[in-house]
Order: sequence, then structure tokens, then C-alpha cells
Amino acid sequence: MASTQAAEKSREMPQKEAEDPSSLRISPPLSEDGAAVHDLIAACPPLDTNSLYMNLIQTTHFADTCALAREDGDVIGWVSGHIPPREPDVFFLWQVAVGEKARGKKIPKRLVADIFSREACRNVKYLKTTITPDNEASWGLFRSIARWLGAPLNESEFFDKERHFKGRHDSEILVTIGPFELPASL
Ligand SMILES: CC(C)(COP(=O)(O)OP(=O)(O)OC[C@H]1O[C@@H](n2cnc3c(N)ncnc32)[C@H](O)[C@@H]1OP(=O)(O)O)[C@@H](O)C(=O)NCCC(=O)NCCS
Repeated sequence: MASTQAAEKSREMPQKEAEDPSSLRISPPLSEDGAAVHDLIAACPPLDTNSLYMNLIQTTHFADTCALAREDGDVIGWVSGHIPPREPDVFFLWQVAVGEKARGKKIPKRLVADIFSREACRNVKYLKTTITPDNEASWGLFRSIARWLGAPLNESEFFDKERHFKGRHDSEILVTIGPFELPASL
């Protein structure tokens, strides 16, 4: 696609998101980033690690709905997600990870804003994710994202500790934020 077309199709995000005085760079991932993503997730408990192969699939097949933050060449932030096949107006955010030293700088919102600015998200009106009951950082983050998007946050059952995980993992609560209109105001 020609760059002018891409610019037309890409949604404008607020200027203060685009400006970046540091060396932080946000972009869709490349396949070569899969191993660094895998290492970042391993360094960010309580996130579940998955196979490196799965991260490579995310950085290739799902690159349009994933975003990577790099500082001085190092991968320090990551959001993975997809548009569920039966829910074209939903962005399902699977994992968000920010390296310990880079936390507290609103990098997750910048990663989400980058994904939302893309053509792949033109029909998105809801953000869904799942959170375990005791992940306070994650609850804090998604409540903050709901405020940023100016949309309600609702909780419902999704994957249950016994019924789905057979006691091997805490329940994952489905969090739905929306509906919202993009571009989001900050
Ligand atoms: C969750 C995580 C991505 C947040 O990263 P971060 O860089 O601190 O996030 P931000 O700076 O954007 O903070 C966003 C909001 O979350 C809140 N928050 C962040 N860490 C928190 C914590 N430990 N407890 C409660 N709230 C927290 C912030 O106060 C902020 O709220 P505000 O906008 O109202 O001020 C990071 O802690 C992380 O990678 N944790 C390990 C992996 C994980 O649990 N991921 C989420 C599950 S997929």
C-alpha cells in the first residue's frame, strides 16, 4: 500500500501520543522479534510463558494486532492481541508486558494506541481482556485504559479455575471495555 493511502487509512491519534522525546519506538513486531518477546514475557511474572513458536506466530500472522516498544534497541514493552473471528468489533488483548525498569511511563497505552491506529482495527469498538483476580497491576492498568477510552468496564466469567483449568490456574475474568469511538481522547 502506498504511504499516502496508509496515512489516510490510519486513524489520527492525539499528538501527545505521537511525540516522543526519548529513544522509545513503537511498531508492529517483525518475525525476528519473537525470541526477544519470549524473553520479555518470561521476565514479567505472573504472565504465563508460551512456546517460542507461539510468539513467532504472533510476530508474523498477528503482527497487525500486536505492538512492540523498543528503547535503545532493546524490547521493553509488548502487547499481543487479535480480532476474534466471530467478533469483528473486538480487540482481544491477550498479554501486556513492560520490563520492570520501564514501568510507570504509560507504555501500555501507547502500545494499544498504536494498534488502534491501524487499518486492522477500523471496526473496533470494544477492548476485551482477561485478568486473574489477584493481578493488581493488571486491574489498575485496565481501569486506567477504560478511563482513557471514556468507556465502561464490565466483568464476566470466562475461564474458570475448576471447569476450564482443572485447578491448575486461577480463574481468568473477562473484562470488556466499551463501546468507544476511536480516536480515543487522552
Ligand atoms: C501490568 C503492567 C504492563 C503495567 O505497566 P506500567 O508501565 O506500570 O503501566 P502504566 O504506567 O501505563 O500504568 C497504568 C495504570 O496502571 C496502574 N498500575 C500499574 N502498576 C500497578 C500496580 N502494581 N498496582 C496497581 N496499579 C498499578 C497505574 O497506577 C496506572 O494507573 P493510572 O493511569 O490511573 O495512574 C506491568 O506491571 C507488567 O508488565 N506486569 C507484569 C505482566 C502483567 O501482569 N501483565 C498484565 C496481564 S496480561
